[in-house]
Amino acid sequence: MQTACTKDELRALLAPVRGRKIVLVPTMGALHEGHASLLRQARELAGTEGCVVASVFLNPVQFDNAGDLATYPQTPEADLQTCRECGVDVVFMPTPDIMYCGDRSITLEETHLSTVLCGAKRPGHFAGVCLVVNKLFNLVQPTDAIFGKNDYQQLAILRRMVRDLDIPITIHGAEIVRDTDGLALSSRNVRLTPEHRAAAPGIRRVLLAAAEAYGKGAAVADVTAGVVDTLSAIPGVKVDYVELVDAENLHAVTDETRPALLAVAAFFGDVRLIDNIELTRNL
Ligand code: PAF
Repeated sequence: MQTACTKDELRALLAPVRGRKIVLVPTMGALHEGHASLLRQARELAGTEGCVVASVFLNPVQFDNAGDLATYPQTPEADLQTCRECGVDVVFMPTPDIMYCGDRSITLEETHLSTVLCGAKRPGHFAGVCLVVNKLFNLVQPTDAIFGKNDYQQLAILRRMVRDLDIPITIHGAEIVRDTDGLALSSRNVRLTPEHRAAAPGIRRVLLAAAEAYGKGAAVADVTAGVVDTLSAIPGVKVDYVELVDAENLHAVTDETRPALLAVAAFFGDVRLIDNIELTRNL
């Protein structure tokens, strides 16, 4: 495994593999088993001839909350070890100064999918994600990139970005990896208090119950209200949003025969957790 800290080092490491399959897994570090699963899927996709690139970059531009950025866990040594164990070929670990020019003045905004769910709550977040992922795509020029469905909206927006900007990269969505008790793995989980960590799997339980109710025909408003009530009853929990939307355009469900998505964001103390479940009517 080789590590690049500058853009020139990255280009030099990738020059010999141009023309082969190059699979990129962008991350912000603090790698956990969910990331490891993405990296292993990348290795499988790339095969023995291809190249797996992981980026580890805590992207300041996508944080709408300075406190969240300041407390985001960073574990560079352990991240390198995880990458090594998962068969990564090249790790790109730039600093913000290397990644961004001080006087940068280009923004990249998706204007439909990012107006709802987390986009409505975190102004500028998805513009920051699009900007950094676009830069990574230009630097790495991968054939494929893998993102987790844990951030379903991010995945949908990045698919839209490659479609609308004709970026010749295949985007793969990977299933959510969960702890044994159902909590979706997230780098932020380590910041939960023991009480909130014990309560957090309740998100998965309430989503499963809601999916069953929706499948049996419960009204959209009743499904979301049930999730809000259950989560709000947990001490110290503040629901940010609970929305049942069309799984493709992420806006309000207008045709209940289409696949839907139930998405949740809730603060457990000051830690914001997200989760989601894909739904269908079984009528
Ligand atoms: O999902 C993440 O970890 C980040 O949003 C990403 C895609 C690495 C961009 O910084």
